[in-house]
Formats: sequence, C-alpha cells, structure tokens
Amino acid sequence: MKILIASSIDSDAIEQLKQHHQVILAFNKPNEPLETLIPDCEVLVFRSGVKISAQLMERSPNLKLLIRAGSGLDNLDLDYVQRNGLVLIRIPQPGAKAVAEMTFALMLALSRRLFEADQSMRQARWKKYELSGYLLQGKTLGIIGIGEIGGRVAEMGMAWGMKAISHDGFLSPERARLLSEKGVELLDFDQVVSQSDYLSLHVPLNESTRYMINASVLENMKPGSYLINLARGGIVDEQALYKALTSGGRLRGAALDVHEKEGEGKLSPLASLNNVILTPHIGAMAVDAQREIGQRVVEIVKSYKASPNQVKVPRNGGVVIESDSQTVRI
Ligand code: MLT
Repeated sequence: MKILIASSIDSDAIEQLKQHHQVILAFNKPNEPLETLIPDCEVLVFRSGVKISAQLMERSPNLKLLIRAGSGLDNLDLDYVQRNGLVLIRIPQPGAKAVAEMTFALMLALSRRLFEADQSMRQARWKKYELSGYLLQGKTLGIIGIGEIGGRVAEMGMAWGMKAISHDGFLSPERARLLSEKGVELLDFDQVVSQSDYLSLHVPLNESTRYMINASVLENMKPGSYLINLARGGIVDEQALYKALTSGGRLRGAALDVHEKEGEGKLSPLASLNNVILTPHIGAMAVDAQREIGQRVVEIVKSYKASPNQVKVPRNGGVVIESDSQTVRI
C-alpha cells in the first residue's frame, strides 16, 4: 500500500510501516508539494501543522483511510471526508495524558514563577524574597471542555487538593453524572470564568469556540487568576489577552502552548511579557505518548490491510468516525 505520512510520527512506527508498504514522508509541508505526493496513496497519516483540504484529498482517488495521529480535527476538511465515505481514525488517548500533565507543568511554573527564577539565577541574581508565588492546593481549577484531556486535568487537580469546576456544552447526561460523582462541579461558562483561579481550556477550535476567550470574558475573570491554553490557537484573542495582562486587569499570568500564528519565525504578541509562558505546541510531545500513538498507527494500517472494509478500532484506541457521523469531538 502507498502511505503518505504528512506529519512527524514516532520513527520506530515509520520503520515498521516501511517493511510492508511504500511510505512517503513529507512532514509539515504546504499543500502544493503534498498534492504532488498524494496521488495513488490509500492511507494518509497526519497531525496538526498541515492543512488536509478537500483539494489535497481529491488528488488521490485511491484515498480510503485517514489516520489522525492525535486529537484535533480543525486542520481537516471533515465535510469532504464525510461526503466521500472515507474512514477517519483518531488516536486521542496517548496525547491526552501528555497534554494533561503539561497543563499541570504550566500551572506550577506560572504559580511559582519558575522561568523568572531560572532567568534571574543565570544573571547571578538572588531574588529569593521577590519571587514568592502561590499554592495550587485550595484553589479553584476551571476547565472549559471536559473530554479526554479536560477530564484528566480535573482528576489531577482534585488529587492536588483543588476544587474542580467545569463547563462543557456537549456533555451526555451519563458523563455529566459520572463527573459529578467524581466531584467535578458543572456550571455555566460565565460562572466558571468568574470563579476560577486557574482557567484551563480544552475545547476544539471551531466556529463556536473561535475567540471564546475575548476582551469581555477576560474582564470577568477572577482577580489574580491565570489562563492556560493547550487546546488551540484562535480560541484566545491574543491582542485582548495582551491588553488584559498589561492594563492592570484581573489576570495574574497566562501560559500558552498553542498560538494564533504557529511555526518557525512567528513571534507571539505576548513575547515581551514576563508573566506569560510560551511553548511551541509541545503538549503531546512526550516520547512515551508519541511511541504509543506510533504503535496504534501501525496496528490500524495492519488491520486495514487485512480487511479494508472493516477497519478495527485498536483496543483502547482510536475512534472511527463513519462518513455519516455527526458526533465529532476533540
Ligand atoms: C493533537 O491535537 O493531538 C495535538 O495538537 C498534537 C499534534 O497533533 O501535534
């Protein structure tokens, strides 16, 4: 089979695929080169950082299977996938563990001003009495979007002695009951925003979440609170965030792993602020998580090759989105 891998995935997985298939590697390329490489490919493997447009997919009439080696689908023309009956399999769980852990890393780094402390040490400064911070324990952790990642963040927060509150407009009654039983309080969006000491975003990017965190939402945040975004750039209005952080507003700091403009050479408008932590979309970049994703990719391809009309979801693994499904969530 001919497989186009359009994003970097675990190298062992690539070697395993190469043993049985013709594998084309073209990581994070713009659409033009991808369009010349995709003809005859049956399988397309991708992550964030590439645009999987209808124009690209229609260049390969043989294309049958798309493997999203991770979670988000904002870079994919889902209508095309559904209209053409392509099989799309996401592998959200391994990356979710890594993103949830990194959410905590950023909350701790913000609260204890770790990057400022590190910078001052490198300048031979001893700022012991200037660099006091805050405990997580006893604080309120607000989670916007409580799916695979948000659920893990809530569990970790409660284990840390935080109160977990959440808003999610798409919860099934069963999941809502389960979350309540576990101790997560489900509230309106505005209530979560105004009550959270740490507001962490875990929603997909779509028309209803674009600029979900805008100037008026930032004005409603609790005084002394922190904003953490490991979901997608575009959910937070970065210009409004800059104003909120520089105009003596309510926010104490922010950490962003995802940005309105991502990629080499792009400078965030928040780059000059020392109460902001910026990272280059590395939430899911834990070696263990990527290794697990890679192995799932290999299993999915194997199962597709064995019976193309009946792709099996790996145990504990991906979600098959059938062409008629309406229930696509991050
Ligand atoms: C994801 O949606 O899984 C993450 O953004 C990681 C990625 O694909 O780069």
